[in-house]
Amino acid sequence: MTVSLLDRRHATLGRHSPLFYDEPVHLVAGEGVWLTDVSGRRYLDAYNNVPHVGHAHPRIVEALRSQAATLNIHTRYLNERVVDYAEALLARFEPGLDRVLLTNSGSEANDLALRIATQHTGSRGVLVTDCSYHGNTTLLAGMTTGLATHEPLGEHVRSFAVPDLDAPANRARRESDVLAEALASVDRAVGELAASEHGVAAVLVECLFSTEGLPRVPAGFVSGLAERVHAAGGLVIADEVQAGLGRTGARFWGYQRHGLAPDVVTLGKPLGNGHPLAGVVTTPELLEEFGSRNEYFNTFAGNPVSAAVGHEVLRVIDEEDLVANTVALGLRIRDELAPALAAHPRLGPLRGEGLFFGFEVFTDGSREQPDGPATKRLVEAVKARGVLLSRIGPTGSVLKIRPPLALREDDVPVLLEALAGAVDELDG
Ligand SMILES: Cc1ncc(COP(=O)(O)O)c(C=O)c1O
Repeated sequence: MTVSLLDRRHATLGRHSPLFYDEPVHLVAGEGVWLTDVSGRRYLDAYNNVPHVGHAHPRIVEALRSQAATLNIHTRYLNERVVDYAEALLARFEPGLDRVLLTNSGSEANDLALRIATQHTGSRGVLVTDCSYHGNTTLLAGMTTGLATHEPLGEHVRSFAVPDLDAPANRARRESDVLAEALASVDRAVGELAASEHGVAAVLVECLFSTEGLPRVPAGFVSGLAERVHAAGGLVIADEVQAGLGRTGARFWGYQRHGLAPDVVTLGKPLGNGHPLAGVVTTPELLEEFGSRNEYFNTFAGNPVSAAVGHEVLRVIDEEDLVANTVALGLRIRDELAPALAAHPRLGPLRGEGLFFGFEVFTDGSREQPDGPATKRLVEAVKARGVLLSRIGPTGSVLKIRPPLALREDDVPVLLEALAGAVDELDG
């Protein structure tokens, strides 16, 4: 009897290692925004944000190959690759955010950002949003509100709700009222921490609110949040692991959509297009303070191969005009999808920005009760039509569409037709 790959996986990685879909997809190759499974079937990848410039991009493969064939070494020797990359990456930030510590994952970056904040402020207290995820270290597990973790929320952690103007309870309310209520709950959380033995070290916030389900937040919420944290002596850490590198279109970083001036920015996922590359960007003052107190060393981070890959990702984004592509295709999809959503009794309006968007599915035409199980069926039905996507939000009721930025004009009808067919099936 042959043992299936799934059985072998369970026997080695265990049964709890998450897999997408009722029938997992066994992928063997990728090119651009297309993936091929073991039977030769092709899928449009409308989910993955790590292969930012496209799967198996020849220029990224060549950058990796040629540096690996030359030298790979850690950062305790002089090598120009890492400095070239640091310069190119930091050129994408506002003046003041001009130091970088490279890491291997978004979790490591957020963990390090929190060390910088707690050492700078002398406080431990951290604010996060309800239903968020920032990584898998022990420290971050104690502040995870959006994924199952056995660790309870740390005593030094307070979470607050992210307001959503499209939530059933807010639809008929004035934006200014929703904003005032949301900031009052931030005030409570900040006030509680400030009055406690922990004090306020930082808010760790992902400005697109991906895990939260891409809520439409009132103007002024994110900047109001930052003002309150700064006033309490804390730092603002913008987690750009998902929202960064042009994902939201016109602005290169997600926090720029909100006019935010973060003290620390954390990066990950798309930075290396699949190669493990992440980092923390901050000010010279904060780096000087942290660096003078800690001998921070990271064996793999900043190695010349990773740096060559990261640098090539930045060049490809520019030379293939992928940010403009994100704006154009994001708008086109929005234009074509919005009327269909408005006309459908069980679907909410389009959420998100650039090439990260979705819509909520409800149980019936009153659009009051989110319907996670129906959203799951929709994800499966879209997959059956050859397009891979997923779902997010507190009840998993928001469809999550987040293709590589290498999506092309010709791919848009494939995505929209699969969605239309799956939605028809939902009705049937
Ligand atoms: C917003 C955000 N921050 C941090 C992380 C952690 O990144 P990594 O899985 O590279 O450790 C994730 C991963 O999903 C994320 O979505």
